[in-house]
Amino acid sequence: MRTGHSHLFIPGPTNVPESVRQAMNVPMQDMRAPDFGDLTLGLFTDLKTVFRTRTGRVMLFPGSGTGAWEAAITNTLNPGDRVLMARFGQFSTLWVEMAQRLGLIVDVVDVAWGGGVPVQEFARRLGADRSGEIKAVFVTHNETATGVTSDIAAVRQALDACFHDALLFVDGVSSVASIDFRMDDWGIDLAVTGSQKGLMLPAGLGILAVSQKALDASKHATMRRAYFEFADMLKLNADGYFPYTPPTQLLHGLRKSLDRIAAEGLDNVIARHTRLATGVRRGVAAWGLDLVAEHPSLYSDTVTAVRVPTDVDAREVLRIAYQDYNASFGSGLAQLAGKVFRIGHLGDMNEGMCLTALSIAEMALMRAGAAIQLGSGVGAAQGWFLDQAPAQARLAAE
Ligand SMILES: Cc1ncc(COP(=O)(O)O)c(C=O)c1O
Repeated sequence: MRTGHSHLFIPGPTNVPESVRQAMNVPMQDMRAPDFGDLTLGLFTDLKTVFRTRTGRVMLFPGSGTGAWEAAITNTLNPGDRVLMARFGQFSTLWVEMAQRLGLIVDVVDVAWGGGVPVQEFARRLGADRSGEIKAVFVTHNETATGVTSDIAAVRQALDACFHDALLFVDGVSSVASIDFRMDDWGIDLAVTGSQKGLMLPAGLGILAVSQKALDASKHATMRRAYFEFADMLKLNADGYFPYTPPTQLLHGLRKSLDRIAAEGLDNVIARHTRLATGVRRGVAAWGLDLVAEHPSLYSDTVTAVRVPTDVDAREVLRIAYQDYNASFGSGLAQLAGKVFRIGHLGDMNEGMCLTALSIAEMALMRAGAAIQLGSGVGAAQGWFLDQAPAQARLAAE
């Protein structure tokens, strides 16, 4: 038996606020009732604010982020199309794998894990592609495996600089509603996320925001698709309905989570993630440990991937934290297994939760054999948080 709270410091699924959980506790309802649109139509509109798009269309597929990846590809591309992608962590690697499995010819740029999107190499390849062979460019905005955020605006500039017409696909699974994400300003054509990260919900929704250009492409794209057909979804969505049974409870939860984001203010949500992430990074620096992210310009405000000393097994850190302190951290994925643990600080988080994460990590690290000083990371983060205006004062000043 375990007492007290279980601590969830993984980068998704994230903590679901109590008010969101309560909002999902409703009886089943008729998804063909005349007033079903009262619930759903507002969700499509308000999600556009979160993606920062005025002209895009938002779609909610029962599924997860991976399903939304597949929906984006199969609706807008043709078998044998050439696309440009970079691999710099486990999630960007999986997206490449999916594109290959679906029959795309993928020009892959491999980047050492810890780096971000290789903008200059992308610019070179796009500039050399005079006949417009490359039909799409894919970027993982926040690589959750390495704690790296890439510069999407720079990729847009690279496309524009050579007047390239490729569609821009962006994975915002661990950035939307937590790190600055600007669909229209960055000219994103297909933005993908899931419900279980910045939106503070259980997994179960694959969420897409789609530009007009991508919608036009979907009218002629020949890749096979059925469940994920945009046209079916949009036709029914026009009146607030779905082409199949929607997860109604999740939609009620989404209503509440969007209300929470609106009440805090999207800019404040993003600023809070930066503030908390900075505190966590200060803590890690005080331990004398390195991040996987190679450069401060790449640091993610939703997840921090920490390299443990070479004589320590990160799996042991995770095991001790979980078994003895009822706390989950993210594991090192694929080539980072055993070398890295990840602290997720996205969604419904605050200073106290980050301090708890650092404090438990210190104990687990020390017991796993790392020579760190107890309290050093917690103290450094406390110092940073004390320097910041308290949340109430900040909100009152808005
Ligand atoms: C950046 C990124 N992309 C895609 C995915 C896959 O999303 P899902 O697990 O919702 O299918 C994840 C999951 O963590 C992710 O972090």
